[in-house]
Amino acid sequence: MKSGKKRRVRVRLGRNSYDIFIGALDGAADEIDRIAAGRDVAVITDANVAACNLVEPVCELCSGASKLGVITLRPGEKVKTFEAVAGICSFAAANNFDRHALFAALAGGVGGDLCGFAAGIYKRGIDFIQIPTTLLAMVDSAVGGKTGCDLPEGKNLIGLFKQPKAVFIDPAFLKTLPAKERRNGLAEIIKYGVIRDRELFERLWTQRRSLLNFNDLDFYTALIADCCAIKADVVAADEKESGLRAILNFGHTFGHALELLSGFKLPHGAAVARGMSLAAKLAVKVKLMDKAEADRIDALLDFVKLTPKTPSAATPETVLDAMRGDKKNRGGRITLILPEKIGRVKIVDDIPENIILDLLGEQL
Ligand SMILES: NC(=O)c1ccc[n+]([C@@H]2O[C@H](COP(=O)([O-])OP(=O)(O)OC[C@H]3O[C@@H](n4cnc5c(N)ncnc54)[C@H](O)[C@@H]3O)[C@@H](O)[C@H]2O)c1
Ligand SMILES: [Zn+2]
Repeated sequence: MKSGKKRRVRVRLGRNSYDIFIGALDGAADEIDRIAAGRDVAVITDANVAACNLVEPVCELCSGASKLGVITLRPGEKVKTFEAVAGICSFAAANNFDRHALFAALAGGVGGDLCGFAAGIYKRGIDFIQIPTTLLAMVDSAVGGKTGCDLPEGKNLIGLFKQPKAVFIDPAFLKTLPAKERRNGLAEIIKYGVIRDRELFERLWTQRRSLLNFNDLDFYTALIADCCAIKADVVAADEKESGLRAILNFGHTFGHALELLSGFKLPHGAAVARGMSLAAKLAVKVKLMDKAEADRIDALLDFVKLTPKTPSAATPETVLDAMRGDKKNRGGRITLILPEKIGRVKIVDDIPENIILDLLGEQL
């Protein structure tokens, strides 16, 4: 992407503040050079991203580095292991990377989370930047400083909060992204409208055709910037998730249960979409929100084809049981994010389990 719209969003976290640059990567060449020049740099990517010829242009932008290496991971969630984190650190150590070294994640959420975690622990912490390549990473995982990896016992069980030095988002990277991966990001985008920004939701509805047109780079530049601004705002208010940040989990308590019961065959976006729809219907059931509002959420999810099948292992009882195991619960109570209207949600932990069971019985 050579020209077009450019946006910049500031994440305000005191000493850990940083900018998110949205637009053609070339347009941020000076910023990238300012961060990378004179340092040992490792670009962490995956084989699919590498096959899209994105590595070379990024390496060119880092040409002021004192050393430059590329680590190409196998694609997919399976690689999100502690061994991969150790592998990134070993690469840096074997190449004598010093404490001023920089890691750059040129990847989706998997590579980004691994890279950030490795940066958090290599030589007790070095800088890193994010250059997200999936829509989900652009609007969600690259912003906010949660890093980590999976354990055989479960997803994202170890990690740390480590904010990047900057985030560089080029929406042109989305052109090669498979439809299923695009939908994962679309679910999070719709989530932002429901939890925090009614005007954004209205825009998503009126411009829903543009939402499916990944050649409309100006539309996507503005949209990604607006989503990043919402996430930045929530994270700035609650960096380490002791309160407000939980609202980003809208749709995820039901969604994670469905993902788990599908043996992780159900894509994250489809699971979260179903979760948002169920949370909205629960809000209607407990008279927190009007049915017309819940119907509008469903209509937008339908339009972008985020209406998944229910995993065969999902019954009201198995879903409720999986929800009880959600790591965000406190004191044995299921924590849910329920909408009061489009644009405003509430964190609740006092919905009786029999009401959740009734809802699941009606909807599954
Ligand atoms: N840190 C956070 O706050 C946070 C938030 C949400 C999700 N996550 C994590 O993010 C991960 C999911 O991220 P994801 O959905 O980006 O998955 P991913 O990184 O596995 O990428 C999805 C697929 O798209 C491919 N790909 C990436 N960019 C591409 C491009 N431009 N063109 C073609 N193919 C491309 C990848 O190789 C992969 O096969 C999960 O591990 C999740 O736990 C983290
Ligand atoms: Zn999500």
